[in-house]
Amino acid sequence: NKEFKMDSFRPGFHFSPPTHWLNDPNGLVYYEGEYHLFYQNHPFSTQWGPMHWGHAVSENLIHWQHAPIALFPDEHGAIFSGCCVVDWNDSSGLFEGHHGLIAIFTHADTYPETDQPRQRQSLAYSRDKGKTWHKYTGNPVLAEPDLVDFRDPKVFWHAESKRWIMVIVAGDHVRFYRSENLIDWALVSVFGQEEGSHDGVWECPDLFELPIDDTGRTKWVLIISIGDNPSCPEGSRTQYFIGEFDGVKFINDNSADHIMWLDYGRDNYAGVSWSDIPEEDGRRVIIGWMSNWKYANETPTGIWRGSMTLPRTLALSCQDEGVVLTQMPVREIEQLRKDLMSWSDVRVTAETPFSQKISDDLLEIEADIDMGSSDEVQIIMKSSGESETVIGYDSMREWLFIDRTQSGLTDFHSSFPCNHGASMSQENGKIKLHIWLDRNAVEVYGNDGLVVLTDQIFPDAPMDSISIITKSGQAKLNLLHIHALQSIHAS
Ligand code: FRU
Repeated sequence: NKEFKMDSFRPGFHFSPPTHWLNDPNGLVYYEGEYHLFYQNHPFSTQWGPMHWGHAVSENLIHWQHAPIALFPDEHGAIFSGCCVVDWNDSSGLFEGHHGLIAIFTHADTYPETDQPRQRQSLAYSRDKGKTWHKYTGNPVLAEPDLVDFRDPKVFWHAESKRWIMVIVAGDHVRFYRSENLIDWALVSVFGQEEGSHDGVWECPDLFELPIDDTGRTKWVLIISIGDNPSCPEGSRTQYFIGEFDGVKFINDNSADHIMWLDYGRDNYAGVSWSDIPEEDGRRVIIGWMSNWKYANETPTGIWRGSMTLPRTLALSCQDEGVVLTQMPVREIEQLRKDLMSWSDVRVTAETPFSQKISDDLLEIEADIDMGSSDEVQIIMKSSGESETVIGYDSMREWLFIDRTQSGLTDFHSSFPCNHGASMSQENGKIKLHIWLDRNAVEVYGNDGLVVLTDQIFPDAPMDSISIITKSGQAKLNLLHIHALQSIHAS
């Protein structure tokens, strides 16, 4: 059922399923001119249930064609999260000397004797560019009967050791396996029992190498999502580690208690990156599920539930505290820009705000702000009803925040209405904000993607004005651009 209905929260430029439930992105791969996006999907409900892999295809990461369900549950269980790779040299032997796509995913069922959960790794392959899929007859290919949680394999080709590497989580640590044929896997190391955050179960790992600025050096980035924990208000979120990987072992550059978060908003989870983006392009693009296990099953959407973040290009930057990840939406997003309103050198105070009516509710806002004598600058996005979402910067605390307590429908879960943020430094009293506002979410990028906050919001009516104000003192908008954006849905 691919009937696509618009409703007031249907995102205009974020990926959403035509109908029913979506969670994690899966099987992200670029092959023969197409980006594939598979996703955890329950095709009979808007709540989580027996998982399938939904599927969509794009040539530009922005406009998606919905495709039929790629993987259905079978005698080994439901299809949990996993990845795809291009088997270029037919190392699996499944492509008769040609190349094709292999999906490596978790089969989730229960032990027949005890009914306890069982998670094992399996393969499926496609010889027709992802259109049809065949489960490998030798499934499952990897089981560890002593592990309760054992899931979300991410596989890549490690050129130096000439091996496929599988990064996979097991509750409180990540395990590295390697293989020559994608079928037989050998454990080579483990990481993480004592490192980073263990607020929740470890899920959805990823590992890749990135250049550091223009230094000519590189580092490895290990991404680990951590599940919800009822005692943590943040719910599920994603941490990352920076270090070295030699084909066998990951070595953390930072101390074990140093925690780095990918996103300081509440709605970016289970993000993983595309495999096989060609080397000429060279970018590492990640996409996350734009929700949170705390309330994912309760968000107030209609015939669909769940959407993805914008796809983002990752980079590494040297900061005082060490090497950190930065992220910005992929450049292709610029093709959605239509009208531009722009201002410069606008002074704002508490009594004299900047204020602009807007007639489009899909927006990109760029603001270079000189904090001047102001203590706090707020960008207030108001709907034609009662809702307002506030993005603010407190210059004393050097704190970037989103306040969604008044953002519209918030009462579907007690932890949804909240005001939360992250430290962000100012340079000579200046900050840069780059904001994408959709009908169900706002993404805020501070200082060129050094600090990112992604939040769902459910306004009571379309946005119709933007004002910028200080709490006290004067600030200056050195530059303010408001782009109206086109929807990705054909009108
Ligand atoms: C993460 C996750 C994965 C699992 C999938 C099930 O959100 O819990 O660990 O494979 O969702 O849908």
